[in-house]
Amino acid sequence: MVIEDNQHLTYGPYKLVQINNAGVNFNYGSDNQLEFAEQVITTNYFGTKNIIKAMIPLMRPNASGARIVNVSSRLGRLNGKRNRIGDLTLRHQLEDVDSLSEELIDKTVNTFLEQVKDGSWTSGKWPQTCADYSMSKLAVNAYTRLMAKMLSDRPEGQKIYINCYCPGWVKTAMTGWAGHTSPEDGADTGVWLALLPDPDQLVTGKFFSERREISF
Ligand SMILES: NC(=O)c1ccc[n+]([C@@H]2O[C@H](COP(=O)([O-])OP(=O)(O)OC[C@H]3O[C@@H](n4cnc5c(N)ncnc54)[C@H](OP(=O)(O)O)[C@@H]3O)[C@@H](O)[C@H]2O)c1
Repeated sequence: MVIEDNQHLTYGPYKLVQINNAGVNFNYGSDNQLEFAEQVITTNYFGTKNIIKAMIPLMRPNASGARIVNVSSRLGRLNGKRNRIGDLTLRHQLEDVDSLSEELIDKTVNTFLEQVKDGSWTSGKWPQTCADYSMSKLAVNAYTRLMAKMLSDRPEGQKIYINCYCPGWVKTAMTGWAGHTSPEDGADTGVWLALLPDPDQLVTGKFFSERREISF
C-alpha cells in the first residue's frame, strides 16, 4: 500500500484491504458479565463502524476493487437457536436489508445498553450468552450488510467489497488461550476474503466461516 499525497490510499499490483480485527470480550465461557457492556459495544461495533467511515473516502480502489473484512462472531447471529434477540419484529427489521439502517442498528445497541444500565435487561429480550459481546457482533454483521448495500452502486474501478466472518474459537488472549483453533487457522478466512481473486469470486455483504458462507 502506498500513501499518496498524504490523503488517499492507493496501490499498484497489491490489493487494498482493511481488516477490522480489534475487539474485546469480558465474558468467560457462556456467562453474562455485563459490567463492561459499554466498552464492548463501543470497541467492537462503534469502533469498527467509525474506522470504516473514516477509511472509505480515502480508498481509491483499482480495477479489482478494495476489500473490507470485519472479524465477527457466530454469537452475533440474528437467528441463532439459543442466542438471539427475543423481539421478533426487531429481528425481522434487522434481517431485512431494505428496512436496515444505521439508525436502527445504533438504536438497537443503545436500547440494550440503556436496559443494562437501568437494570431492566432480561435475557429473554436479548441474547442469553455473552449478551454484550453477542449484541456488538450482531451490530457489526448488520452494518456489514448495510454498507455492502450502500457501496453496491459504485462504478467499476471504484468498487469496495465488504464481508464479515467468524474465526471460530481461537487460542488467543480473548479465550484465555483455551480455544481449539490456532490463530493462523482463525485468520485464514479473513485473509482469503481479503485476497479473493477477481472478478468471478467476488462477494459482498456476506458472513463466512471456514471459507464458507453462513447465515446471518
Ligand atoms: N478468540 C476467539 O475465539 C474469537 C472468536 C470469535 C471472534 N473473535 C474476534 O476476533 C478478533 C480478534 O480477537 P482475539 O481473539 O485475537 O482477541 P485478543 O487476543 O484479545 O486480541 C484483541 C485485539 O484487539 C485489540 N484491541 C482491543 N481494544 C482495542 C481498541 N479499543 N483499539 C484498538 N485495538 C484494540 C487488542 O489490542 P491490545 O493488545 O493493544 O489491547 C488486541 O490486539 C476480535 O474482533 C474478536 O471479537 C475472536
